[in-house]
Amino acid sequence: MIRAFEAADLPGVEALWHACFPDDPPRIAAALSIPEKLRVEPGSVLIAKEDDLIVGSIMHGYDGHRGWLWSVAVASTHRGRGIGAALVRAAEAALAARGCPMINLQIREGNAAVTTFYERLGYAVEPRVSMGKLL
Ligand SMILES: CC(C)(COP(=O)(O)OP(=O)(O)OC[C@H]1O[C@@H](n2cnc3c(N)ncnc32)[C@H](O)[C@@H]1OP(=O)(O)O)[C@@H](O)C(=O)NCCC(=O)NCCS
Repeated sequence: MIRAFEAADLPGVEALWHACFPDDPPRIAAALSIPEKLRVEPGSVLIAKEDDLIVGSIMHGYDGHRGWLWSVAVASTHRGRGIGAALVRAAEAALAARGCPMINLQIREGNAAVTTFYERLGYAVEPRVSMGKLL
């Protein structure tokens, strides 16, 4: 089942992100990122649940120009069963309903194998250099 994140889901999502994104810096831990994301864009975090276990997550957002996906994660025990694809499709539907015309996402260096997952879902690699700055 895919549904909007609820406060009680936090421990499960924390465990999922810990396992799926072990190198993420503490400043983007679920306990910090999710409340802030939902403050700015309510309903923009989705989870996949099976047998009372949180097995997947995705965050989506629309800045008025393009949509973004983040934190696409499926528990290693539940991969290869279409849960990741279902999460992306649900986020796409939510973005499309808001009038969002296109979606971008970033993949960390060293995780290039995951491009195949997104290509299966219709995404294409674009020649861009991603830059960032902490405020
Ligand atoms: C990437 C991830 C979300 C995929 O979740 P999943 O539930 O296993 O994916 P699905 O079962 O929905 O797969 C959808 C399609 O992508 C393919 N696919 C999924 N993961 C793949 C991988 N690592 N390499 C190649 N193909 C992959 C599947 O074979 C399937 O193809 P099909 O439609 O031809 O059958 C999951 O592997 C994951 O959480 N990885 C760790 C976190 C991560 O790197 N997230 C992405 C951050 S950008």
